[in-house]
Amino acid sequence: MQTHEIRRRFLDHFVKAGHTEVASASLLLDDPNLLFVNAGMVQFVPYFLGQQTPPYSTATSVQKCVRTLDIENVGITTRHNTFFQMAGNFSFGDYFKREAITHAWALLTSPIDEGGYGFDPERLWVTVYLDDDEARDIWRDEVGIPEERIQRRGMADNYWSMGIPGPCGPCSEIYYDRGPEFGEDGGPEADEDRYLEIWNLVFMQNERGEGTGKDSFEILGPLPKKNIDTGMGVERVAFLLQGVDNVYETDLVRPVIAKAEELSGRTYGRDHEDDVRFRVIADHARTAAMLIADGVNPGNDGRGYVLRRLLRRIVRSAKLLGADRPSMREFVTVVRDTMAPSYPVLETDFDRISTVAVGEETAFLKTLASGSRLFENAASEVKAAGKKVIGGDEAFALHDTYGFPIDLTLEMASEAGLSVDEDGFRTLMAEQRTRAKEDAQARKHAHADLSVYKELVDRGPTEFTGFEELVTESSVLALISNGVRVPTAAAGQDVEIVLDRSPLYAESGGQIADRGTITASGLRVRVNDVQKIAKKLWVHKVTVEQGQITEGDTVLTQVDADWRKGATQGHSGTHMVHAALRQVLGPNAVQAGSLNKPGYLRFDFSWQGALTEAQKQDIEAVTNEAVAANYAVNTFVTDLDKAKSMGAMALFGENYGDEVRVVEIGGPFSMELCGGTHVGSSAQIGQVTLLGEQSVGSGIRRVEAYVGLDSYRHLAKERALLAGLSASLKVPAEEVPARVESLVERLRVAEKQLEATRAKAVLAAAGEFAEKAQRIGAVRLVADAAPAGVSAGDLRTLVGDIRGRLGNDPAVVILLGDVDGKVPFVVAANKAAQELGIRAGELVASFGPKIAGRGGGKADMAQGSGADPSGVQAALDAVRARVAELAGSN
Ligand code: SER
Repeated sequence: MQTHEIRRRFLDHFVKAGHTEVASASLLLDDPNLLFVNAGMVQFVPYFLGQQTPPYSTATSVQKCVRTLDIENVGITTRHNTFFQMAGNFSFGDYFKREAITHAWALLTSPIDEGGYGFDPERLWVTVYLDDDEARDIWRDEVGIPEERIQRRGMADNYWSMGIPGPCGPCSEIYYDRGPEFGEDGGPEADEDRYLEIWNLVFMQNERGEGTGKDSFEILGPLPKKNIDTGMGVERVAFLLQGVDNVYETDLVRPVIAKAEELSGRTYGRDHEDDVRFRVIADHARTAAMLIADGVNPGNDGRGYVLRRLLRRIVRSAKLLGADRPSMREFVTVVRDTMAPSYPVLETDFDRISTVAVGEETAFLKTLASGSRLFENAASEVKAAGKKVIGGDEAFALHDTYGFPIDLTLEMASEAGLSVDEDGFRTLMAEQRTRAKEDAQARKHAHADLSVYKELVDRGPTEFTGFEELVTESSVLALISNGVRVPTAAAGQDVEIVLDRSPLYAESGGQIADRGTITASGLRVRVNDVQKIAKKLWVHKVTVEQGQITEGDTVLTQVDADWRKGATQGHSGTHMVHAALRQVLGPNAVQAGSLNKPGYLRFDFSWQGALTEAQKQDIEAVTNEAVAANYAVNTFVTDLDKAKSMGAMALFGENYGDEVRVVEIGGPFSMELCGGTHVGSSAQIGQVTLLGEQSVGSGIRRVEAYVGLDSYRHLAKERALLAGLSASLKVPAEEVPARVESLVERLRVAEKQLEATRAKAVLAAAGEFAEKAQRIGAVRLVADAAPAGVSAGDLRTLVGDIRGRLGNDPAVVILLGDVDGKVPFVVAANKAAQELGIRAGELVASFGPKIAGRGGGKADMAQGSGADPSGVQAALDAVRARVAELAGSN
């Protein structure tokens, strides 16, 4: 049975039983404790907790989920996908254990031609929580499962919570026995590979508090109602019904493996290590595509880092399988083809998805290439020193800086006939993990400081009056100094002030905070910044300039009007640039962040590659034409669905409440969900001047612009610059470009001539060195200091040239340079010298230490650099002695 069909049957079964079908929520929900949605119940948490009234009493959904905790196990076990679909049925105070159990049983065991999954009831086992006799009785007496196939298990297995505070309860799990060839007898208690969990029925009845692990947390008390939350693993049911070996081989995932077989030339099912790589590619390609579809971009922390890791693991696995060209686009194309029937966004947003994935692949392949060079250097040094083991520190550097997994380093080492100090590597890895843990702990302590605000947050939100007025009478609710409540603050002190009402805009949505003052008779306080705590408490960071401020005071809080005017120009200007950008570049230019303040704005968006000059000019022109059109600016509050259906732009990954504020400039020209302050009509923004465009991380570009008077000042400065150039070049402004071009051309010709002269001088020097060659035994040797100032590149040419001039008898040339306190060196041995056993690469070891030098190479040519010029003479003596030894001993 195809996976799409399994999903459909599930939903139909529960809709027929009166449930409302609810769409999957985004993988990103607004819970700082939850990186990704990891269970079907997550979108219903407020209903379980009684914080919101559900619009239905029973529901069913197939939720997309991502769990990346045990990413290292992907491909090794049979049952862990990082992306999976959880089919569930939910009751919010409606039915409880009996119906949850009988509904599940009916769907699993009804024959296929009656809409069920047709599982053989004899192969199903169930578990219940230790003392849950009620569930045991229903399974045994009403469903008819024999007592020996019902097992009781404790907290760790049969008591479900999200791992964080929230709803929880005992559960009952349904397992399928895959047969004795997959493990020992004895039910799920004995072997969870043979007995595969397919469905978890949670009797959601309590609220859990803080705690750790699956079984050590506090239970705060019962929920307002008894609820049901169930989760069936769609991928697991698919792998059983499709008769394949594991979750990576189902109809939706196996085609990616087939593509990887085609690209790598290797066959799945032959070699365990290769199979794991195939499965990693198939699993991760799907997860990555789904994450990008929901708005995640690769980054260095949080969700972005998870995505980056997944994409890089795909690239590495493909490389280890021997794929010799970029393959990401083909993998995500297969994901689209298999998954789009259930997730049409993969089709509609395919360009964006594949561009982001391929962008990361390209960047990582470059990193891998630099890493490979580092590896080769390390390998040749090890060989030059006559050793066989690459140090743990080198392997760690490759891992840490270039993302090389240890198995890649091991494989490359073994190809080069070397091994790796794995113990050393692991020690360094362990040290790094300890450091990371300590960092995380330190961060936790920093968070603890927020507790001072808790009581104030609980008291209720600050009322923001700044859309209607710039001056507001407020009362001082609290003063905080260095994280501690204080009753009063006097002139000269920097403190934080919490007010009941404030017209000052707190930094959010890219707009920085208003500046302003807080005054009362004899009191003057300057507001330097305003930040929101828990999204609703305005914390004013201030300097008391005059007088004294005390908790409970009534004060006048005032926005600096000029600042606010500039801030509205900056923020409205940002919306105009955003709209223009999408008009010019299309819908793939998705906002990734922004910042605006009086006179300046910047806007980040996902895009691959630099913008062309023409695109930049178009964006600037569209923006300024829309400014000049003096469009009306309207703001209104509506519900999220309505706003979206009007085409209002929302930020990916941002979570909005049910009520949202929409800012509309020029009707369809620009419509965005936004809580910021704006101009009354677009001409008030003034001139917008783009400053240029740059990359800020893989796949993200940034444009910056000046607005209003700052725009004018910028242009005036540029004009003055041009006037200055025109004066010093002594041509009218319009002739400046042609004049600069001709100057550059003349410079180029002059540099070429200079280069030719220098090359001649180097060649002449070659003749002189060759004449000075000493004879040591059978060998002609030039070992000398190079003329001062000869670059490392020229040194190589010079040494090659001298060697050429020494003829076919054994000849060795070594020159040590002197450039900026460093000693670049090149060693060459001709064929006849090599036949005597003299190798350029090996000679480095004889003199390198005298100049604190490192380097290496092959038998004919080696190079490197030393850090200690005072050792040049000693180095030359050492190499002469070594050549003498070698020449004499042959
Ligand atoms: N919430 C439970 C789970 O994730 C059942 O849906 O297993």
